[in-house]
Amino acid sequence: MSGRLEGRLVALGVTGSIAAYKAVELARRLAAEGAELQVLMSRAAQAFVGPLTFETLTRRRVMADPLELLADGRIGHVVVADTADVIVVAPATARWLAAMAAGLADDVITATCLASAAPVVVAPAMDGEMWDHPATRANAARLQSYGYTVVAPESGPLASGQSGVGRLASAERIIEAVVIAVAGRPVRAPEAALRPPADASAREPDLVGRRIAVTAGGTAEPIDPVRFIGNRSSGRMGVAVAAAALARGAEVTLIAGSVSVPLPEAATVVRAATSAAMRAAVLEALPVCDALVMAAAVADFRPRWPAERKLQRTEGLTLELEPTTDILAEASRIAHGLDAEGAPTREPLHPRPVLVGFAAETGDLDRAAAKLARKRVDLLVANDVSEPGSGFGSETNRVTVLAADGSVEPWPLLSKREVADRLLDRVAALMEARDAAPRPAEVTR
Ligand SMILES: Cc1cc2nc3c(=O)[nH]c(=O)nc-3n(C[C@H](O)[C@H](O)[C@H](O)COP(=O)(O)O)c2cc1C
Repeated sequence: MSGRLEGRLVALGVTGSIAAYKAVELARRLAAEGAELQVLMSRAAQAFVGPLTFETLTRRRVMADPLELLADGRIGHVVVADTADVIVVAPATARWLAAMAAGLADDVITATCLASAAPVVVAPAMDGEMWDHPATRANAARLQSYGYTVVAPESGPLASGQSGVGRLASAERIIEAVVIAVAGRPVRAPEAALRPPADASAREPDLVGRRIAVTAGGTAEPIDPVRFIGNRSSGRMGVAVAAAALARGAEVTLIAGSVSVPLPEAATVVRAATSAAMRAAVLEALPVCDALVMAAAVADFRPRWPAERKLQRTEGLTLELEPTTDILAEASRIAHGLDAEGAPTREPLHPRPVLVGFAAETGDLDRAAAKLARKRVDLLVANDVSEPGSGFGSETNRVTVLAADGSVEPWPLLSKREVADRLLDRVAALMEARDAAPRPAEVTR
């Protein structure tokens, strides 16, 4: 992969604006341009976006305090100041512009800018009146007089409910300004040892340009407007796959049922409470994804006649259940161009998404191999959810991975993140093999 910021260290400062969430997508796109990232956050920014989101994306600890020392004793913001090729502050609040204009080093971003000879790109975002205020304008002009690039905000609807100039500039405009700011400058500190430390377990961004759809969590099948049939899935495994894929540069659509863990903000999240909603979301994502990982625990049965009003206890209750659609099997049939009996009926999707299923079993895993063949998936991740340290709600998982080529790999007890990364290694290899195979004559998308 080569981008316009290949090998550059970009320090991304995020301050306490409602637009702070847009910095997540900006970080992802800077990484897709080949940049390494060190995120710096003001205290207020952390009320808008969690550092964990940036840490997952950048595989570096966020710096949020000018007093912070690195594990080796170096002063955090000075290391960033000395090694960053460019500092980008996006979004920049009115308060931050004022602090920087005055040279007031009371947050980690101003401290870094003051200590650095790197070019600085500032993208303000605020309410229209705030941006129009003479104090803010004078502060922005002051920053320009330091040689900083100010990427002016755009006009449109604002968080205040009003419309006006104050919206954070688009990621394209900010990245364009960053590329111009570093053009012709040598990389300041190419040696990894001089830069702020990266997570030793960081993976290469080998999934840039890949679109991965992941389902996570359980479904809730309504009995009446307030009651449902659910299951114990926490969504941890699917969310771990989504987070790992994002960290490796993929575009991720996370189709989330009921989950009890935070969702990665850089994913496109589609909420799907019931098996029917999940089916619809999966079938929509299928034709435009490179891989589909079905880690959700979808109900196998649902009440045939959900009541429209809340049932009274005195009425008693006998539920008639009907089977739900097997979403993975249906997605697989569409991907392979088969009808319900397995006969070719239409052209397969091309490129055909790599299909990964999960099978939560209790006891022996013999049924998993039959499931893999019946559903024609590329990989089936089987686990015994009754085993300690495995399955629902747990941080770890011991799985056996079965592949369409007949291989069966029992993996040791691993964190769900490690399971996710190993699984993505297999998915990446399958996508590469698929892309290297000769294309069939018929192309449907
Ligand atoms: C919901 C909400 C949204 C805000 N959005 C902005 C904004 O877009 N721009 C801005 O300058 N201040 C905004 N503020 C005010 C800043 O968060 C506040 O001035 C804070 O002190 C900024 O701190 P920082 O510059 O250290 O991040 C907002 C406050 C709230 C409560």
